[in-house]
Amino acid sequence: MEIFIKKDYQEMSRKGAEIVAEEMRKKPEGFVLGLATGSTPVGLYKELIRMNKEEGLDFSRVTTFNLDEYCGLAPDHEQSYHRFMDENLFNHINIDKKNVHVPDGLAPDPEAFCRDYEKMIVDAGGVDLQVLGIGSDGHIAFNEPGSSLGSRTRVKTLTPETIEDNARFFKTIDEVPKYAITMGVGTVMESRICLLVANGAKKAEVLARAVEGPITAEVTASMMQLHREAIIIVDEEAGAKLKRKDYYKHVEKMTDLLKKK
Ligand code: PGA
Repeated sequence: MEIFIKKDYQEMSRKGAEIVAEEMRKKPEGFVLGLATGSTPVGLYKELIRMNKEEGLDFSRVTTFNLDEYCGLAPDHEQSYHRFMDENLFNHINIDKKNVHVPDGLAPDPEAFCRDYEKMIVDAGGVDLQVLGIGSDGHIAFNEPGSSLGSRTRVKTLTPETIEDNARFFKTIDEVPKYAITMGVGTVMESRICLLVANGAKKAEVLARAVEGPITAEVTASMMQLHREAIIIVDEEAGAKLKRKDYYKHVEKMTDLLKKK
């Protein structure tokens, strides 16, 4: 794993976007970008929008797959993840909406939908880079504690902790959906690069468990330890409980770290 500890949220977001852009430029034809919702990646998306507008970062041939969607919410529902993505990214870049995929929260046959979603990812050539956040319960996507580490796209019941975390976006906690369609841990693990971003003191404990603790279904983000190319970018607050001292703290490469000594 490559761990970058950045000064603050803005630096974390900038570094994340730089990596996404670099990978996109390596594969101008048919890059497949995995996307996440939540507050954390919003700054990274803002930076991608800026790069699209000011630096010509081209999304016209990019295909996207989002990690998850609430069951029961239509794509245009105020709190749906589809709407979130439109507002925070898709409406501001030159992406062809035909190439955008967000799980359908209203799928009449969710099981069949989940199977099709997996197939669509395979047919697109697999995810080249997957953006991830981490839940305060250690989840990646909606793979709540106890999720099978080999799981595929399916319907999951959200934990009370996640429902509480997400209540801030709804008028009352009762309005928060209790189920979601989510890519599985196994699905996420097949992406070529996983890029996990985390900020704020609230994530410090669980981030340290994910990175330095044992691999466990109790913290599904700990599977990053088994991923062939996991990049984790945190701000100082989220990185505060990491114990090892050899992470990329305010440096870009290991050679810079050696120079500092
Ligand atoms: P957050 O959510 O970015 O809103 O903290 C992260 C997650 O649940 O994956």
